[in-house]
Amino acid sequence: ALPSFGPVDPFQLVKEEIDSVSERLRRSIFTGIPTLRSAAQYFFKVGAEGKRFRPTMLLLMASSLSSVMPSPDYLTVDDRPPNVHPEEERRRQQRIAEITEMIHVASLLHDDVIDNAEMRRGLKALNSVFGNKIAILAGDFLLARASVSLAALRDSEVIQLLSQVIEDLVTGEILQMTSTEEDLLSLDHYVRKTFHKTASLMANSCKAIAILGGQNREVAQSAWEYGRHVGLAFQFVDDVLDFTGSTMQLGKPALNDLKSGLATAPVLYAAEEHPELHALILRRFKCEGDVERATELVFNSRGIQRARDLAAQHAELAVQAVQSLPACSNEHALMCRQALTEITARVLARKK
Ligand code: FPP
Ligand code: MG
Ligand code: MG
Repeated sequence: ALPSFGPVDPFQLVKEEIDSVSERLRRSIFTGIPTLRSAAQYFFKVGAEGKRFRPTMLLLMASSLSSVMPSPDYLTVDDRPPNVHPEEERRRQQRIAEITEMIHVASLLHDDVIDNAEMRRGLKALNSVFGNKIAILAGDFLLARASVSLAALRDSEVIQLLSQVIEDLVTGEILQMTSTEEDLLSLDHYVRKTFHKTASLMANSCKAIAILGGQNREVAQSAWEYGRHVGLAFQFVDDVLDFTGSTMQLGKPALNDLKSGLATAPVLYAAEEHPELHALILRRFKCEGDVERATELVFNSRGIQRARDLAAQHAELAVQAVQSLPACSNEHALMCRQALTEITARVLARKK
């Protein structure tokens, strides 16, 4: 069992460092082309950055595996250009946090075009400000800059891990678009799609942190498992919030999944109790009244609870992955492990 340090706030613990990573990120997407600059900066402006959940998790993972407390020097902004190789382990790990956030936002820009979304993070979606073409190109630009930073790490395994994430994001999106009738009703297919869409980024970036921290295969695998389970839990909760959250809370429309034709865990579980849902799922809730009827059936079933339980199971597996990390006596590392555990609780409790 881990020693307890009393309550730790995972976000507070690394906030200063995250702020400097965010600042570096803003600098590394600078371009002299004005439209591209404002489009690319859009979701990285102070106040528009979202929860910064991924970079927080990654820096906590980095500290959890370190035998020393990070020097305060690393709280300053690393102002070397993106193509310069950083020698220091912590700086390389910060780059992973930055690159991960860039890939994440690039995928959101493309996703909002595909979904024809109007809102994101309580703001207008980029496509509804600049149009689809600029939004797609801004996403491509972020991937390009992320690639430069990634290459500068000069670690081919880490490059492969983060490139795999991009492939998985695309695969997840295609799986979702091209599901067969059997797929549409399958919880298994839904979980596989969710791994690609959400968990791969967290799993592979956590593993990259461990590798850059000089950890062996086994530890890198535990880091990967942690990210995978947190990612799955995160998305299952997201899919519950789509039913239980309000548009105000979420910063994007509620019941969006049903309206987009997607059957997520709450619906798939509800369909086991109400077979009437099968036809609605297969026609992707396209007929008049389908969204309302499906919502009613979900709320009159154990669907929401079972989806929450599924998220809780993965949160517990994430905690076990933290517990399987090698013994360590560094107090700060132990506190960060406790914070990684606390993150899983926050994922389950989150309202947006
Ligand atoms: C949000 O899902 C979308 C994703 C998690 C990934 C989208 C991936 C692509 C569009 C592939 C292209 C990838 C890159 C790297 C450019 P959602 O639509 O279910 O959720 P939302 O409510 O947040 O929109
Ligand atoms: Mg979307
Ligand atoms: Mg989508």
